[in-house]
Amino acid sequence: AEDGYDLWLRYQPVGQQWRDRYASAATQIVAAGDSPTIRAAASELSRGLGGMLGRGVATASAVTRDGAVLFGTPATSAAIAALDLPLAPLGDEGYLIRSVDVDGHRATVIAANSDIGVLYGAFRFLKLMQTRQPIDGLDISDAPKLKLRVLDHWDNLDRHVERGYAGLSLWDWFTLPQWHNPRYTDYARANASIGINGAVLNNVNAQAEILTPRYLDKVAALADIFRPYGIKVYLSVKFSAPIALGGLKTADPLDPKVRAWWQAKADQIYARVPDFGGFLVKANSEGQPGPQDYHRTHADGANMLAAALKPHGGVVMWRAFVYSQHDSEDRAKQAYNEFKPLDGKFADNVLVQVKNGPIDFQPREPFHPLFGAMPKTPLMLELQVTKEYLGFNTHLAYLGTMWAETLDADTHAHGPGTTVARLIENGKGTGLTGIAGVANIGNDRNWTGSEFDQANWYAFGRLAWNPQASAEHIARDWTRMTWSERPQVVDTITAMMMRSREAVVDYMTPLGLAHQMATGHHHGPGPWVSNLGRPEWNPVYYNRADGNGIGFDRTASGSDAIAQYAPPVAAEFGSLKTVPDKYLLWFHHVPWTYRMKSGETLWDALIEHYDRGVQAVAGLQRDWASLAPFIDKRRFDEETAFLEIQHQDALWWRNASIAYFQSKSQLPLPAGHAEPP
Ligand code: GCU
Repeated sequence: AEDGYDLWLRYQPVGQQWRDRYASAATQIVAAGDSPTIRAAASELSRGLGGMLGRGVATASAVTRDGAVLFGTPATSAAIAALDLPLAPLGDEGYLIRSVDVDGHRATVIAANSDIGVLYGAFRFLKLMQTRQPIDGLDISDAPKLKLRVLDHWDNLDRHVERGYAGLSLWDWFTLPQWHNPRYTDYARANASIGINGAVLNNVNAQAEILTPRYLDKVAALADIFRPYGIKVYLSVKFSAPIALGGLKTADPLDPKVRAWWQAKADQIYARVPDFGGFLVKANSEGQPGPQDYHRTHADGANMLAAALKPHGGVVMWRAFVYSQHDSEDRAKQAYNEFKPLDGKFADNVLVQVKNGPIDFQPREPFHPLFGAMPKTPLMLELQVTKEYLGFNTHLAYLGTMWAETLDADTHAHGPGTTVARLIENGKGTGLTGIAGVANIGNDRNWTGSEFDQANWYAFGRLAWNPQASAEHIARDWTRMTWSERPQVVDTITAMMMRSREAVVDYMTPLGLAHQMATGHHHGPGPWVSNLGRPEWNPVYYNRADGNGIGFDRTASGSDAIAQYAPPVAAEFGSLKTVPDKYLLWFHHVPWTYRMKSGETLWDALIEHYDRGVQAVAGLQRDWASLAPFIDKRRFDEETAFLEIQHQDALWWRNASIAYFQSKSQLPLPAGHAEPP
């Protein structure tokens, strides 16, 4: 457990006071039904209860004592059917947990309309204990707000993970399909525990080979392992696969031969994986092939694939992450310009997948203007769980707060209160809703390359289940499950997590700056970089620092990206009087001596933010050090070292950024600023 392998499913023994309380309410495990999913629930309950209570809990085929935990569906259990529970509103994946009486015995029932709902309920029941909640007098019901809750693995077939900082890909293609590494099952358990129900197995920068029969057999083996846990597999496809694999001369989506090729390919996949989820597509983006190569639209491309999947019930997740070096328009505007005119043109099994912000997973971006701009198209939100731009696996940055900021953002698209969360909960009549997270998982012993990055996987799942959930509650639950039940530890770690992302913003890209990272790998500062072939890859394109000032004018006097937002949002962000400080330089170019709302100059405020970021990391280090007596040595030492790396990096970011910007502003450093060492 101390090597991090067990994630938040550690099931460590609870303290004495809780053990006495829990023991009498969990005396017996009674499975109603015998499907692989119900067996998974039974085995998880045995493992969890056994671990937390410190002794084995008996299994039985019927409730025979007080404290029984009975789980199943009304279809598989007369005892559950007899309880006449209000399951109808819970849909295919929801569950209900209630303290009831069964044949004269006190019992807890975990019931659902489907086996997967039962498994989700079993994990929820265990979580109550893991987070030290009462398990008597229960009446809980819950169901996910989004239908597709998907991890996108950017894994190449040679096991290199693009933007992966946790080792190699989990999928060992070389030993599949024969060898079923038990780790695949543990991956599925972890996902099911937070309700993730889909996995795109390969990189969006896809290799066509994944669609060859040899690989499809391997994909089918993984699908078989994941199925009991409610997880469907999806594949990223290369749009030119009909040429690469099928020997065709074109991949034109309107060409009958191309359409027939994809149809046959879909049939071939479904013959192996009857519940295959569908395709994820990156097309005409960063050099990938796509329908525009044939003067067709994104809708033409998406609909052609959708038609191939439709007879089998699959979906297409078509990415809106597009921008081109041939387009002189502000990069932040390009996706909207390309996709908005296509609203209403997509087939009903297509979702358009939109990143949270208009550029690219920066430490802070305003919400993407496509949210609210495509009233007829289901939009799937794409988040990045792996920390490409937030310090890789060593910096402590809890992303729950960042994602909540996007989800809670008010687009005003259909009046006030049209948050991004509410927009993605609306399937626009297709019944399709979804969210995707670019996974941070690899084959490192602790899965994510650091203990704290496990929290981001966890938080993604929780927000996918309920996009309106509180980032702080999620952090607190995760901390209890991962570190300790001791209140001092829980409070300290939760508070550290809650401030951590703002610290990163402060030392990397304060006040609305973005894309200041070093070229290629994106680790460390590079605000001065100006020599890359594509202008919109250069940090100077984004900071626009010169002798007069800094920031990207996206108002009407500049690129007018502001006009892509609903009028109340455009008015707020477009005016210097109302734009929040955190977006100032995203939307405005202002003089170095510009007076902030606080009264200080922009220059002084900028320096203050960099200093604050460094100080915040020092604060994280102090808080962590105070927990030494309560954390096992291995995990404590690792995080101590990682925080030291983060501190060094924060200093590097601050000093390098200030030095560069000072070469433009020619202003003295404000009094009180600690001179760069
Ligand atoms: C980022 C990332 C790439 C990735 C791309 C995408 O630009 O750096 O590695 O391919 O996003 O989302 O497609």
